[in-house]
Amino acid sequence: ELSGPEQAFQQRVDDGVRIEPKDWMPQAYRKTLVRQISQHAHSEIVGMLPEGNWLTRAPTLKRKAILQAKIQDEAGHGLYLYSAAETLGVSREEMVDDLLSGKAKYSTIFNYPTLTWADIGMIGWLVDGSAIINQIPLCRCSYGPYARAMVRVCKEESFHQRQGYDLLIQMCRHGTPEQKAMCQDALNRWWWPSLMMFGPPDAASTNSAQSMQWRIKLFSNDELRQKMVDQSVPQAEYLGLTVPDPDLKWNEARGHYDFGEIDWDEFHAVIKGNGPCNRERLQARRDAHEAGAWVREAFSAHAAKQAARRKV
Ligand code: 3HC
Repeated sequence: ELSGPEQAFQQRVDDGVRIEPKDWMPQAYRKTLVRQISQHAHSEIVGMLPEGNWLTRAPTLKRKAILQAKIQDEAGHGLYLYSAAETLGVSREEMVDDLLSGKAKYSTIFNYPTLTWADIGMIGWLVDGSAIINQIPLCRCSYGPYARAMVRVCKEESFHQRQGYDLLIQMCRHGTPEQKAMCQDALNRWWWPSLMMFGPPDAASTNSAQSMQWRIKLFSNDELRQKMVDQSVPQAEYLGLTVPDPDLKWNEARGHYDFGEIDWDEFHAVIKGNGPCNRERLQARRDAHEAGAWVREAFSAHAAKQAARRKV
């Protein structure tokens, strides 16, 4: 049974009124937003690592510059999202500590290795492609700072997806048979983990019901996953690549592709920290945090000096 303030809050959400930081909100609304936005931010920051691996190995200066710009964007998305989460009363230190201690989650997709240059194209096309499908609805979610942060993020994601797909067109349609085979190998490794980005099946999604009632989540995990499959299959065909799913089949009656079962054991194993690169990714973040301590100390010393000067 909702209390008076909770009823009034739900009415505002139902009427499409944006909730702002200073508005009254149920504790549980605040808590689930801190959970989702901080984990979203962690995903952006950890997500820089797989691509960083190819920055010094890009085949041309143009590709290096594009990749550099994309990785820099991801850092910006992370900072944007940490700031949006801070409007809910959580500190940056707390969120970063939760990531580094292994307490907070980040997207499973960033625990896979980038073995060849084709992986960089796959990440742009499939990972950022999935991210766009998941993030466009978030531009209309009920919490103001999150929705507004998503508008710019989505614009930049479109560049990320375009550059990735362009890279694959180069290799698949204008490259050598070896380059095309490299792309097929990358598709085989990235296809299923990209579908896991949308979360568990709706029936197993612990947060969806409440998040949908509060208009944080506007479409279900399975709905967005289906949209990604329907969008990506024709794009794979254009590249001349085969989607690694023998059960994939157009279903005229449904107007969607039917597709095979996702390996949810793999999904849960990677969330638990047993993916191919989990330890390496967290270690890289811990090392970076350690190496950057002097910068944070210098900033706070400078800020303290400035504050003292203002008092004089
Ligand atoms: N990796 C890790 N954890 C995942 C996950 C994944 N792929 N999918 C779901 N989970 C977790 C959820 O966080 C939740 O655990 P928690 O309660 O401890 O947080 C649990 O599995 C159950 O899932 P639910 O469906 O109940 O959880 P949500 O309602 O939060 O839905 C979500 C999951 C769809 C990822 C949602 O949190 C969301 O939309 N988040 C914002 C977008 C986001 O974080 N995307 C991640 C990638 S960011 C990215 O790709 C950036 C791009 O620039 C490359």
